[in-house]
Amino acid sequence: MDEIKINPWEVSGNFDDKVYTKIVNDFGAKLIDDKLLGRLGGLTHGLHPFLEDKTFFAHRDLDLLLDAFENGEEFYLYTGRGPSGDMHLGHLMPFLFTKWLQDKFGVHLVIQLTDDEKYLVKDLSEGQISKFTYSNVVDILSLGFQPANTHIIIDSIHAKTLYNNAIKVARHLTASTVKGVFGLTDSDNVGKFFFTSMQSVPAFLVSVMKKKNVRCLIPYAIDQDDHFKIARDILPKIGFYKPASIISKFLPSLAGNSKMSASDKSSAIYLSDDAKTVRHKIVKYAFSGGRDTADEQRKYGANPDVDFSFNTYKLLESDKKKVQKIYSDYRSGKMLSGEMKELAVSEINGFLERVRANRAAVEEKFADYLFDEENPF
Ligand code: TRP
Repeated sequence: MDEIKINPWEVSGNFDDKVYTKIVNDFGAKLIDDKLLGRLGGLTHGLHPFLEDKTFFAHRDLDLLLDAFENGEEFYLYTGRGPSGDMHLGHLMPFLFTKWLQDKFGVHLVIQLTDDEKYLVKDLSEGQISKFTYSNVVDILSLGFQPANTHIIIDSIHAKTLYNNAIKVARHLTASTVKGVFGLTDSDNVGKFFFTSMQSVPAFLVSVMKKKNVRCLIPYAIDQDDHFKIARDILPKIGFYKPASIISKFLPSLAGNSKMSASDKSSAIYLSDDAKTVRHKIVKYAFSGGRDTADEQRKYGANPDVDFSFNTYKLLESDKKKVQKIYSDYRSGKMLSGEMKELAVSEINGFLERVRANRAAVEEKFADYLFDEENPF
């Protein structure tokens, strides 16, 4: 565990299930057990693949949130994106999961773009960041989010409202807490010390605007947990609920590492990749759970669970029966790795085409998606 480093701005090490469990225990979150999973699946009439395979594996107060929901209380979802580059498939998947939650519970969703954060922590110009902010929002919304229940917060645009609420959090947050939790030191810039206050605001902003407390559920990857640990500590002190959360592991990259790298273009599939590029990347780089030779594969079968192509296919194909059939054919050796790859290629290309086809409509309606500071929903 020595070599494991995990905070919102730095992640390194090899993450396996043992490590994830230890992190969750150290952080003070909880694993999603079968009972909670069953309960959630009962409310959503089935489970998303990310819940089945425990990509979303931990939580904070998800049980309490479901209690409240079953008692007729409303809640909303909040998630976000740091716009420091183009989005690849691995970045989009958690948004598809969040959309699934939104559709199943019929609730509003707030998405924060932390352009201020990326300016503070990355060596990028304001111009570069605002370009990524715009294109990231369009990419996310093109997954099919509706303006009526999806609300984009861009830190630099909603700055006044965010700032006026962030100071309420900052008043209760000491520099020593920030140092302890995030591992910041005296040589980090002061903006980083303040920033977590900005990321906490969407977790209570709706309550401020509506002048009544509304519960919030935040899906995020485990590296963001520090922010919400702090938010959960401070929000009750200023009159709001602790936000609940549902927490994911890191998605494996195309080549099967523990995190999809944004720096190496060949290591991920981008929305802008054409059909040929997608096929090339999958055939050449996609980590396979199959055997070295066709003979061995026919004899012993593959391990679909670690196979990038199978896992991506499973996320994008909504017909569970089809997925089940592919799983058993691939597992048994009836299906070869090359065939699995071709299937994933056509599934991914179909998905990317559908997403790209939505772009123009989203761009036209861009303003309708922006969080309305007077009247949130
Ligand atoms: N800080 C996150 C990032 O860099 C973006 C973010 C803001 C976020 N609010 C969030 C992520 C809420 C998950 C949930 O990616």
